[in-house]
Amino acid sequence: MVQKAVLVTGGAGYIGSHTVIELLNAGREVVIYDNLDNSSYEAVRRIEKITGKAPIFYKADILDKKALLEVFGRHAIDSVIHFAGLKAVGESTQIPLDYYYNNITGTIILLQAMKESNVKNIVFSSSATVYGEPPVIPIPETSPTDAKSPYGRTKLFVEHIIRDLCTAEKDWNAGLLRYFNPAGAHPSGILGENPTGIPNNLMPFLAQVAVGKREFLSVFGDDYPTRDGTCIRDYIHVVDLAKGHLAALKKLEENPGCVEYNLGTGVGSTVLEMIHAFDKAVGRELPYKIVARRAGDVPNLTADPTLANKELGWKAELSLDDACNSLWNWQSNNPQGLEGFPADAPKEAVINYL
Ligand code: NAD
Ligand code: WQD
Repeated sequence: MVQKAVLVTGGAGYIGSHTVIELLNAGREVVIYDNLDNSSYEAVRRIEKITGKAPIFYKADILDKKALLEVFGRHAIDSVIHFAGLKAVGESTQIPLDYYYNNITGTIILLQAMKESNVKNIVFSSSATVYGEPPVIPIPETSPTDAKSPYGRTKLFVEHIIRDLCTAEKDWNAGLLRYFNPAGAHPSGILGENPTGIPNNLMPFLAQVAVGKREFLSVFGDDYPTRDGTCIRDYIHVVDLAKGHLAALKKLEENPGCVEYNLGTGVGSTVLEMIHAFDKAVGRELPYKIVARRAGDVPNLTADPTLANKELGWKAELSLDDACNSLWNWQSNNPQGLEGFPADAPKEAVINYL
C-alpha cells in the first residue's frame, strides 16, 4: 500500500512539532497546517534541522474551509492529526466565545472539509481535563467525564461530535487521545515548548526560573489530600506522547471506528517532587514559595494507560529525569525560546480566504 501524507493541524506548536519529527523520522510525508497564532515558523526550520527533511507547511486557519479544501486538493492526504486549538484554561474563562469558536467551530469546519475531500481518519488532541474530578485514581477511559472550564468543555464537546460522526458514518475512524501533562523537549536541545508571555504551566515556568527570567515559582497550595500536600499529575515526556500519535494512526488502519485512549505514564508526581527532579537536572535548588490554591485545580490526575499499552502497543518509555534533562537542555540553550528568530512564514506558504 502506498502511504499518503498526514495533515498535521497545529504542527508548528509544542506537541505538534515533536510529532512531526517522529512522523518524518518514520518516513511519513507531512503537511503542516498552522495559523502560527501560538507558534513560530522557526519551529518548522528546526524540525528540518533535526530530521534533515522539510515538511510541507501552510500558514492557514482551520476556520478557513476554502483554504483547507485547497490543501486537501493539492496533496494526497489520507489522515489528519488535529492539534490546532487554543489551550489556556484560565484564558478560556475570560474569552469563552473565542475558545468555543476556534476549537469547536474550527473542528467542525475541518471535519466538513475532510468529508468533502474523502479523508476520514482523524487523531484528535483531547485532554485529561475531560475527567474533571475523577472518582478513581488511576483514571480509566471509562471514568465519567465532566470538564470544569470552557477549554475543557471544548475538548469534551469535540469528542462527542467526532463520536457522533463515527456512529452515523461507518467509514470514519477516529482516535481521541487524552493527554495527561506533557513535559520535556526534544533531546537535541534545538526544539521545545515556546510559551508566549508568562507560562501558565508548571514545567515551563520552572524552566524560566532556572534561567533567571522569573524570580521564584509559586506553588499553588500545599493542603491537598496528597503525600506532601501538593497536587499530583502524570507528567509524560513529549517525545513519548508524539510516538503515541504514530501508534494511533496505525490503529486507525484497522478501521476501529471511534476509540479513545489515555496517553500518560501511570505514575503521578507531586509539584514538590517535580521541583526536586528539575533541581537535579539544573544542578541547584530553585526558589519556590507556597501560595494559595489555584481555582479549578484537582488533587490528582494520574492515568491508567493500560488500554493504550494493550490496543496501541504503545507505552511511555522515557523517565521523569529524561523529561527534566531535555527541558533544561532546551531552556539553557535557548533562554529566550524562539524569540528573536523570524516568526512569520514565507509568503508563498500563506493561504487566507477569511
Ligand atoms: P500549542 O499552542 O503549542 O499548539 C497549538 C497550535 O495550533 C499552535 O501552533 C497554534 O498556532 C495552532 N492553532 C491554534 N488555532 C488555530 C487555528 N484556528 N488554525 C490553525 N492553527 C491553529 O499547544 P500544544 O501544547 O502543542 O497543544 C496541542 C493540542 O493538544 C491542543 O489542541 C491542546 O489543547 C491539546 N492538549 C495540550 C496539552 C498541554 O498541556 N500542552 C494537554 C492536553 C491537550
Ligand atoms: C500542574 C500542577 C498546579 C503552575 C493543564 C491543563 C490541562 C492540560 C495540561 C491542556 C498543578 C501546579 C502550576 C505554577 C504550580 N492542558 N502549578 N505553580 O493544571 O495539571 O493541566 O495543562 O489540555 O487541561 O489544565 O498543569 O502545569 O498548569 O499544573 O504550583 O506556577 O502544578 O497547581 O498542581 P494542569 P499545570
